[in-house]
Amino acid sequence: MENTIIVGTQWGDEGKGKITHYLAKKAGIVARYSGGNNAGHTVVTGGKEYRLHHIPSGIIFPGTLCIMGNGMVVNPDALLTEMDDLGSQGVEFSNLRISDKAHVIMPYHRLLDSSQEKNRGEGRIGTTGRGIGPAYTDKIARKGIRIGDLYDRELLRKKIAYHAGEKAEVLEGTEFTADSMFERLVEIAERLAPMVTDTSLLLHRELKNGRKVLFEGAQGTLLDIDHGTYPYVTSSNSIAGNFSVGLGISPMWVKEITGVSKAYTTRVGTGPFPTELEDGVGKYMLDKGHEYGTTTGRPRRCGWLDLPVLRYAVRVNGLTSIALTKLDVLSGLSSLKIAVAYKLDGKEIKHLPYSSELLDRCIPVYKEFMGWDEEITQANERPGLPPAALEYLEYIEKDLGVPVSIISVGPGETQTIA
Ligand code: IMP
Repeated sequence: MENTIIVGTQWGDEGKGKITHYLAKKAGIVARYSGGNNAGHTVVTGGKEYRLHHIPSGIIFPGTLCIMGNGMVVNPDALLTEMDDLGSQGVEFSNLRISDKAHVIMPYHRLLDSSQEKNRGEGRIGTTGRGIGPAYTDKIARKGIRIGDLYDRELLRKKIAYHAGEKAEVLEGTEFTADSMFERLVEIAERLAPMVTDTSLLLHRELKNGRKVLFEGAQGTLLDIDHGTYPYVTSSNSIAGNFSVGLGISPMWVKEITGVSKAYTTRVGTGPFPTELEDGVGKYMLDKGHEYGTTTGRPRRCGWLDLPVLRYAVRVNGLTSIALTKLDVLSGLSSLKIAVAYKLDGKEIKHLPYSSELLDRCIPVYKEFMGWDEEITQANERPGLPPAALEYLEYIEKDLGVPVSIISVGPGETQTIA
């Protein structure tokens, strides 16, 4: 395999965990470049289901080196819980490395996330409430606490004291004081110490030695802070290009960029979603696709596949292939639709408009397809799919000009056609 970036093409939850795990078999390293424990990646293998939030999906393979890059924000307490949960399922962490430059999500970030979200009222974003936005805000404001700071006690104490003062209002009446936050981090630091390192240096050396790397994106293209449906986005760059910044390596290392897309569309949180279905078909997708957030348990909004969204993802990420997931969920629908364009103020457009307000006014122009009745969860090669499913796939490929190289027909590892 070539060094490959895996990126979400929609609003997250496309099934990146499964695809990363599938491709990780052929890679020596899985490296994640952005986001934090707002992500929820599910991997089903060997009859077990693993839920990952911070940790790259390659960790299930004992020999795979897993890297959490500098572009991530890390909640050390939640990371330990995640490790304990996975550890109880037999996963071990001797191959996990965390960048000393990744930023720490502190208790006040979580408190601020919920108070800011409350203050937004009608304009609420629907954040996961994990403190992601406030942690990235402190990073950009040049006052964040980095993982490496946990090993310089004087600096750590000073930084926490500063934040305890600055964020006194939100901390008031909670169990969190400067001392308690300092002591907890010192305790955690000891457990994380064997994993904390200069991951840019490590990755660079491994790449030079010819080890193959999967760069694992979190969230999705339309949740990107610059290129997503702003302001209904996360606070980091989730598109493929950020792998270089978020890991401290050259963009020259990558040859393939695989975009993961569901065979339909989902979104959690608020914000525009032109092909959303608030009818029986949407409910069918919700139920059959078990469309509930891995991180928050919230039901996801469901709708038809949206080609203006995917064309955009092809363009801003430079996709070389597509992994189409959950095709099996569409079995049993008598007909299917794909949005091929939008009508905006009476004019037909094929590309996403710049703002969420404009996208909210877009009315999808649909092309209708025949559905298929057969369950396809056991299909193991493309020609074995019903003709209507093949027609659906071929239309997508032709429109996007990118091959669908992986088709997922169920959560299990073997339910994959490649
Ligand atoms: P935040 O990242 O918690 O600030 O949430 C901002 C927006 O991104 C909200 O709409 C969340 O629901 C959404 N979001 C963040 N992470 C994920 C994810 O991994 N999957 C799907 N949506 C996400």
